[in-house]
Amino acid sequence: MAIVMRSGEIRRYDANERLNHWAVALLFILLAASGLAFFHPAFWFLSALLGGGNWARILHPFLGVLMFVLFVIMAMRYWTDNKIQPYDREWSKRLPDFIENRDHDLPAIDKYNIGQKWVFWITVITMGLMIISGIVIWRPYFADAFAIDAIRIAAVVHAISAFILILAIIVHIYAGVFWVAGALRAMTRGTVSHNWARHHHPLWYRRMRGGRNVEQPPQNL
Ligand code: HEM
Repeated sequence: MAIVMRSGEIRRYDANERLNHWAVALLFILLAASGLAFFHPAFWFLSALLGGGNWARILHPFLGVLMFVLFVIMAMRYWTDNKIQPYDREWSKRLPDFIENRDHDLPAIDKYNIGQKWVFWITVITMGLMIISGIVIWRPYFADAFAIDAIRIAAVVHAISAFILILAIIVHIYAGVFWVAGALRAMTRGTVSHNWARHHHPLWYRRMRGGRNVEQPPQNL
């Protein structure tokens, strides 16, 4: 697989990665909508997304398992790139500059910044808590195997984890779509420009350029 492509762009995500990501995103929206519908009557109208109350109640746990499995595949892909490194501490100190768009001389980072890494680890933890608690409260299949107190605790863990996960994904969407121009294209077309890579992720850029499978040296660097 070429990393620097003939078009002169750099590949950030291949087709499998993008399909995996958007499947998780679609399932997340369906699950968040139906979960909120169960949580409070004000959100009941959202159950229509899964075909009404009965279907939402039946499908929600199955879709949850599917999202978890697809999320595990995705998380394994990005696990190493999200490990926190010493240079992330220096970059974090400059977070106000990043927020204010004074980001021309930030410390060099690799494929992800510390904000992305935090969102990643929060999703890993909350997804883990949600699948465990979700199985404990899943009637009629598993809940009978647990004591009522365990089911009550699991219901609270499920709701709190969902709340944190939804907040994390709102930050993730905001950053990916509005904050960092050019990031969305990475997850739709799969590629980024040389300028984008050099500006936002200089160490990753250097790594990609150093790869042996460079099809054609980029122009105008
Ligand atoms: C629903 C709308 C969503 C949008 C618009 C969106 C957008 C994006 C974008 C633009 C990227 C590329 C960022 C980059 O390469 O710098 C990305 C990466 C990623 N997304 Fe999403 N995403 C969405 C939902 C989700 C959900 C629901 C999850 C997981 C629960 C998720 C997990 C990830 C992960 C793990 C990455 C890889 C980068 C990282 O570790 O931060 N995304 N997303």
